[in-house]
Amino acid sequence: MRQRHVKQATIENMTMMGVLFEPQPLKLPHDQRIHLEIGSGKGQFIAKLSKDYPEDIFIALEIDMDICYRIAEKKVLYGLDNLIILCTSAELIDLWIPFETIDILYLNFSDPWPKAKHHKRRLTWPLMLDKYRMLFKEGGILQCRTDHLDFFLDSQTYMEPIFTITEVDYHLPPSPYMTEYEEKKRVKGPIYQLKGTIHHD
Ligand SMILES: C[S@@+](CC[C@H](N)C(=O)[O-])C[C@H]1O[C@@H](n2cnc3c(N)ncnc32)[C@H](O)[C@@H]1O
Repeated sequence: MRQRHVKQATIENMTMMGVLFEPQPLKLPHDQRIHLEIGSGKGQFIAKLSKDYPEDIFIALEIDMDICYRIAEKKVLYGLDNLIILCTSAELIDLWIPFETIDILYLNFSDPWPKAKHHKRRLTWPLMLDKYRMLFKEGGILQCRTDHLDFFLDSQTYMEPIFTITEVDYHLPPSPYMTEYEEKKRVKGPIYQLKGTIHHD
């Protein structure tokens, strides 16, 4: 995702807008549904969900500060008190999220890293799935959406040993909750979606 440098995207400004930078275990309520999106981009998907479901908690995680600033703008514009924004790397997720707190994790249009030598950078790579695993509540859901068929098929293979696959959709219809990438890619071809549930034995 390209984003020109945003002058206002400083740690100071973004901290005032509610963005968190320093890894710290989040204090999350046990009696609310917790949604997490990793690699949120400009945050259209998670901001709309936060707006429509004020009774739930939403966490957007994005590594790029300039892009993350766009999520913070939406939080401020719509007064989204239930949206937590983490400007950090997915690899550090276990430093932020306590065990067994997440109901649903969204990976939307994650970078597909098509070359085999780069596969280990994928956000669905088995080592990453292993990191996410303990963050889910019993019955928690991982939802991956992409337009990249090879990445989709490989992600299913990575997920199968850990998750019970509940949905493999090769033609996902449009919905009110679409990311910036989904809106762009839809005009070019099909959108794929994969869902799996976690059971802690
Ligand atoms: C292809 S874009 C998709 C953005 C958004 N999900 C969408 O669908 O419009 C991938 C996003 O993931 C972010 N990203 C890539 N690797 C990441 C990582 N290791 N940790 C956090 N974010 C990451 C990138 O900065 C970028 O914003």
